[in-house]
Amino acid sequence: MLDKKMIEKLISTAIEQLNYSYTPYSDFKVGAALLAENGNIYKGCNIENAGYTPTNCAERTAFFKAVSEGVRGFQAICVVGGKSGVLTEFAPPCGVCRQVMMEFCNPDKFQIILAVSQEKYEIFTLRELLPLGFGPGNLE
Ligand code: THU
Repeated sequence: MLDKKMIEKLISTAIEQLNYSYTPYSDFKVGAALLAENGNIYKGCNIENAGYTPTNCAERTAFFKAVSEGVRGFQAICVVGGKSGVLTEFAPPCGVCRQVMMEFCNPDKFQIILAVSQEKYEIFTLRELLPLGFGPGNLE
């Protein structure tokens, strides 16, 4: 289980990442902080592209940074986002990011923290956000 201190740290780390978000097209800034099982926190922001489809979401930036360093076990991710980096409501992960989470995370254990501030957040499991998800187990 995540303790309050860790939740606070993940929220502040995700909010810091808004500073690096590269969004010349949408101006919708997203930050993510991914807690690995080994205790490391991998940070991510969204990175847009003039070709539009190469855009990478903040969540996938964080996951791919971790996986590219050999880390494949994860406990939780915090995601924040808003127009011009102003946080007014939750920024839930897109379907593609949920699918990437499904590849590496136990859907009943992995926690997704959607936050607007240190005071306003909600925690969901991946199973709640991706019911009946298709994952590696389906190919066994
Ligand atoms: N975005 C994310 O970074 N994460 C999501 O899960 C949803 C969308 C980004 C992609 C794009 O840069 C901007 O938000 C608008 O879609």
